[in-house]
Amino acid sequence: MNYQELQQAWAKKYEAVPSQLEKLKHIRSVATAFNTNIDAILKIKGNVLKRLIVENNISLNDLENISLSGFSKPSDVIIGIVKCFSRGIAEEWVTDDIDVYNWMDTNLGYDHLQMGGQAGIIANALALLGVKKVITHTNSHPKLQAQQFLNLENLFGLNDEGKLEKAVNITRETDIPLIHWIIEFDKGDRFEIDGKIFSCPKSNRFIATYDPLNMKLVMNKGFIGYLNTHKINYLLLSGFHPLLESNGGVDLVKNAVPVLQKWKKYNSSLIIHLEIASTQDKAVRKAIVKYIVPLVDSVGLNERETIDLLNIMGQKTLANRIEKNTCSPLLFEALLFLKKTLKMKRIQLHMFGLYMTLQDSDFVHSAEQNLKGMMTAAVVSSSKAYNGVLAQYGDVVKTLGMSVSAQSLDELNNLSQALHNPELLNNGICKVDNFILSAIPTILVDKPKTLVGMGDTISSVSLLAGC
Ligand code: GLC
Repeated sequence: MNYQELQQAWAKKYEAVPSQLEKLKHIRSVATAFNTNIDAILKIKGNVLKRLIVENNISLNDLENISLSGFSKPSDVIIGIVKCFSRGIAEEWVTDDIDVYNWMDTNLGYDHLQMGGQAGIIANALALLGVKKVITHTNSHPKLQAQQFLNLENLFGLNDEGKLEKAVNITRETDIPLIHWIIEFDKGDRFEIDGKIFSCPKSNRFIATYDPLNMKLVMNKGFIGYLNTHKINYLLLSGFHPLLESNGGVDLVKNAVPVLQKWKKYNSSLIIHLEIASTQDKAVRKAIVKYIVPLVDSVGLNERETIDLLNIMGQKTLANRIEKNTCSPLLFEALLFLKKTLKMKRIQLHMFGLYMTLQDSDFVHSAEQNLKGMMTAAVVSSSKAYNGVLAQYGDVVKTLGMSVSAQSLDELNNLSQALHNPELLNNGICKVDNFILSAIPTILVDKPKTLVGMGDTISSVSLLAGC
């Protein structure tokens, strides 16, 4: 089949999306935890970045071969932006130094505020999609945080009395707002330092986080109590990634274990999905793999997070190969390794243009359903990129009917050839060892208005719309 025929074949498959969207409205209840915050969005241009580099006396040498992965002073923030800008990658770095936060507030500024954190972003998306009841964990819920929630009757948080209340109406007076800087840059932008050109190969973002509560994994008692006494259908979990070993992060991960175990004991049919997220601290990353992954049914991650996991699991060679050539066959190799080693029932990787899921054949949602869930996620997340926000129901289907991209089909084609399974390119499903692989080409938006939170939307909608 040529591109056009393949695009038509996939357009036919994508016709399943509207009815999957309807199914979401029948899901009874979902909780999202733990990290909710406020994102300060700043689009940075190459010339502004250059000015910051010069003003902060950063040398060309500091900008070449950057090995830093956290920040403790203002110049580190700029180095982090340059690292992501010049490689077109997404990373999040954290600091526990309020002075750097104050420096960002004064010197970087922002364009606007919006909902941040996996738990908050997913809660808004799922409530808008019509899940009957969405309960979000917030460890801080002042007015400014409440304002980032959509004004929806099915979207709840926990108030000061530990009771469910419409999230947008809650004001926990003494809480402090938790603001993260999301610094976005555009493909093709460039700047020059001492004769060297830095150009951006792919639109992406760098996140600089100072967040005393999420960095301590502070848990809301009302939320914990709610899940101990109410049976919900799905728990979408994240928020371990801002922890630092130096801040007691490994113990904080361990402390979450009995909390999760109790929820599962009370509600044995609860399906838990963990979003890995950009976890820079290696000891914390190891702790997540050791203590949290065994408790969850499903795991979601992107290509960077896959490399990160390989690096702490004795797979440096494969990690380096993917770093040099981020392509579907190598990422599939990684996915298979993770599935076999960590033994979760389902694992989903989303990369630029392609989503793939490896699951046990008896997973609660069949691979055929999962395929439909992923296509629904592709429509919802590309609509978000296209529209900039998901604020009204009509926003979620803005890209419905657009063709899957040629680049996506190339990735799927490479994967199907590597697996010697030509059917994968047309059907999106095949057996690998004892597992079932489902993979889809996605809709790519040319000039995305936003990228932050894409992965969270993809993972959560894929799982739930695969019901
Ligand atoms: C991380 C960041 C948060 C951002 C989110 C998007 O959780 O800390 O600021 O909104 O990722 O995925």
